[in-house]
Amino acid sequence: ILATMVRSEARQFRQFADEVRQGLTEVPKKLDPKYLYDSLGSALFDAICCLPWYRIARAENQLLSRKASELADKIGAPVRIIELGCGSGEKMVTLLRACQTFRKKTSVHLVDVSSTALAWSEQRLREFEKTLVVTHQLDYEEGLQMASAHRRPEETLLVMFLGSNLGNRDTLSSIELLQRIRNKLEVGDALLLGIDLVKPEEELLKAYDDPLGVTAAFNKNLLLRINTELGGNFNLDHFKHRIIWNHAAARIEMHLVSTKNQAVLIPLADCKASFTIGESIWTESSYKFEIQTIVDLVEKANFCSCEQWVDQEARFALTLF
Ligand code: TRP
Repeated sequence: ILATMVRSEARQFRQFADEVRQGLTEVPKKLDPKYLYDSLGSALFDAICCLPWYRIARAENQLLSRKASELADKIGAPVRIIELGCGSGEKMVTLLRACQTFRKKTSVHLVDVSSTALAWSEQRLREFEKTLVVTHQLDYEEGLQMASAHRRPEETLLVMFLGSNLGNRDTLSSIELLQRIRNKLEVGDALLLGIDLVKPEEELLKAYDDPLGVTAAFNKNLLLRINTELGGNFNLDHFKHRIIWNHAAARIEMHLVSTKNQAVLIPLADCKASFTIGESIWTESSYKFEIQTIVDLVEKANFCSCEQWVDQEARFALTLF
C-alpha cells in the first residue's frame, strides 16, 4: 500500500510540474484550476462559501435540504452516491441529514483532488454511523472510474456534481465529462447537477472579487503553492487578482496579472517564465447559465431532464437528470 501511495504521489507531482511548465509557456498563460485546492486553498474556498457576496453554496444547501425527500422519492434505494468535487463535505451532510432514506441503505463515494477536503468530509460524515464512506483523492475522470467500479446489480447510482463545478470547464470539455458520467449510468440512475445562473454583472463581480480579499488570496495561493512545491520564486506582491465578466461567453474569468516586467524561475518544473507588465495567467473560468441552456447542454450527453429546482433570489438551479 505504501509503495502504491508513493507512486501515486510521485505521479501527481510530475503531473503538476508538467502542467505548470506547459501552462506558463503557452500564450495566453494559464493554469488548471484544480491546482487551487491544496490544504490552504481548500480552507480559503470554505471561507469563500461563508462570504455574503458568494451565494452559491448557501443557495445550494438550502435547495438540497428542502428537496432531499423529493429527490429520494425519485431514486430507488439502495443507492450509491458519488459526489465529484465534494470539498469539505457540507453538501453531503446536508443531504443525509435532510432525508432518512439516504441515510439507510446508502454508500457514499467522495471524489476530490484535495486530501485535506477529503479528510474533513470523512470527519463530518462520521455522524452517520450506518453509512459507508469511501474517498478517492483523484480528479473527476479518474475518480469517477474508481467510484463506480464493482457496482452491485441492485444498486442505483446517483452522481452529484454540485457547486457550479461543471461551469469551470468550457463547453466541449463539459460535454466530454458528462458523456463519461453517462457511460457509467444505466436507466434509472441519476445525475444531480448544481449550476449558477446568469445574474447582474455587479453581483457576479463581487462574488469573485470580494471586498475582504478572500478570493484574491485563494487565487494567489496558486503561486504560493508553486513556490512551496516546485521551488518557484514568484513574488506574490507583483501579481494582482483580476476578475472579468465576459458577457459574450457568459463566463467569469479569473486572472493573476503581472504588475511589472519580470522573470520567474520554477526549478522543479524546469521552467523559466517571463512576464510583461499587464500580462496575465488565466487561472479559472466560471460559466453562468440560463435554465434552458443547462438542459440543452446536458441532454447533448444523452441525459434526460427529470426535475428542476430553482432558487429565484440567488439565481441558482439544481437539476435532476
Ligand atoms: N465552482 C465554483 C464557482 O465557479 C468555484 C469557485 C468559487 C471559484 N469561487 C471561486 C473559483 C473563486 C475561483 C475563484 O463558483
